[in-house]
Amino acid sequence: MQIGKQKSQLDLPQEWQAAFERDRENPLRGNDPLPERQAARFLAAFILTGLVFVLLPGTLLGVWNLLRIAGEQTGTGATPAWIQAHGQAQLLGWVGTFILGISLYVLPKMRGRYIARLDLVWLDWGLWTVGVAWRWWIGVSGNYWRVGLVGSAALELAAFVLAQYLLWVNPTKDAAPQRFQRQKPFPGDLASWLGVVGFASFIVALVLNLGIAIEVARRAAEPVYPPVADRIFLILALWGFAIPAAWSYSTRFVTIFAGLAEPKQTTARWLAAGVAITVVCALLQQFLTASVIAAGVSLGAVWALRIFEPSVREPKRVGVYRNYPAFMRLAYVWLLIGAFWGIAAELAPQVSGLGGASRHALTVGFLATLIFCVAPLILPSFLAGRELQSSALMGASLWLLTVGCTLRVGSESLAYSSPGGIAWKVLPVSALLELTAVCLFVLNLGLTIAQRIPAWFGPSGVAPRMTVYFYVASFPKARAVLQDAGLTTLAYAREIPHTLTLAEAAAADRADLDLILGALRDFFAERRPRRQRNI
Ligand code: HEM
Repeated sequence: MQIGKQKSQLDLPQEWQAAFERDRENPLRGNDPLPERQAARFLAAFILTGLVFVLLPGTLLGVWNLLRIAGEQTGTGATPAWIQAHGQAQLLGWVGTFILGISLYVLPKMRGRYIARLDLVWLDWGLWTVGVAWRWWIGVSGNYWRVGLVGSAALELAAFVLAQYLLWVNPTKDAAPQRFQRQKPFPGDLASWLGVVGFASFIVALVLNLGIAIEVARRAAEPVYPPVADRIFLILALWGFAIPAAWSYSTRFVTIFAGLAEPKQTTARWLAAGVAITVVCALLQQFLTASVIAAGVSLGAVWALRIFEPSVREPKRVGVYRNYPAFMRLAYVWLLIGAFWGIAAELAPQVSGLGGASRHALTVGFLATLIFCVAPLILPSFLAGRELQSSALMGASLWLLTVGCTLRVGSESLAYSSPGGIAWKVLPVSALLELTAVCLFVLNLGLTIAQRIPAWFGPSGVAPRMTVYFYVASFPKARAVLQDAGLTTLAYAREIPHTLTLAEAAAADRADLDLILGALRDFFAERRPRRQRNI
């Protein structure tokens, strides 16, 4: 808590000095809300960045490409550079940014810790955002593309390596200093193994991306990856990273929220090995083997996560679209469709559109549907205890996405292999439905993030014995309220002692304690969550 006109501790009132003394004598003084608020702030930056990417560079460009393809009635109707720019924006700009941000927020917390170097987290966000935005821009504009292709790939790799440093190497702070905590050994469960193999594959994917970028910059006439290299990169990014990461987080979020039985942890090494072999096969250009193994691992993941077994607990439904567990299961149906369609595409390369349909089932059917279910469930509470703006918008986005994806996957291979057929008319409709679904999803999360931080406590949560630090650290705007109510020392104190109570602070400034309590109660009454307002 640093501010402008500062005085040394010796100039502060006696009550403040006594509180600082108490802080020094007892550094283990309970949970500090500040790291949580700081973590929620950087998570919001990653999420907002991902939302911008999915909407404009990702989906809008995807829709534009599809409209051009449908207009020309040929799968080669759109510019390859624009198709690749769209793919990179969706996979790295949206899915990648969400996974990075959520991992930096959640993984240290799961170990009871917070990342100590917040400046490096913000640097990481900056490097990653500039990298993915630059990659998209050179794809659509062609401006200085040789330097842009290599520069953006280098930035993406640097950002991801920095994120790994922050997660696993950089010292972290204890979240609860009063508890003695040891660094826990590697848990060896399904989530951890899938996380490890997913992150490792993504580093390989980003190194490959840099290598391809250098080669293209040296030899090619336009910013387009050669088909085989592009395919290997996509398999690594999708089957090596995004899909295993989705399985890994499913063991927490899908299992818990949909009330599923505990995942089969003994499958952890097998599934991780399957992902690693898929990556190696792709690198060796054994695409049929890669798709067969990917389909086998998908079946294994569905079995291990017990997706299609009945729920053993009532799913969490408060404040969200109540039928979301059915869509979580549907996402895994899309995963299997995409995986087996992928084998079909390898076996029947003459049927153009099968590969695209398979990829769409995986990216939109599986990844996007799962994210449309999980993000509204977890993000509001991660973002300083907010509430989802609208469960109706959540439901509408899921239904529209599902109808759009069904039309697209159902018609793409028919259309691409039969010029002039009715399926060509279905494709633009699918694109517009999916675009609307994405708009509703972005609107819902955007409005959720724009909410004021809610106060989940009633009037009894404002009491003379509560600390000034707690209120100001959790609700920065409470500082002005306290100052206006008479806590004048706040205006020039460099730090606020963690143990200074409201009663002590009022005595120190000869302020009216009842007035302070009343002002704070009014402040928090306005911030009561919607769910509590009618109680
Ligand atoms: C939501 C609406 C979307 C539309 C209308 C759309 C449209 C397209 C189109 C027309 C293509 C060209 C290839 C083909 O004909 O199939 C394509 C490729 C691709 N899309 Fe999408 N897409 C959408 C969403 C997504 C999402 C959510 C992701 C990832 C999470 C994604 C990832 C990709 C990738 C990786 C490619 C291949 C790029 C390449 O060849 O390098 N798309 N998309």
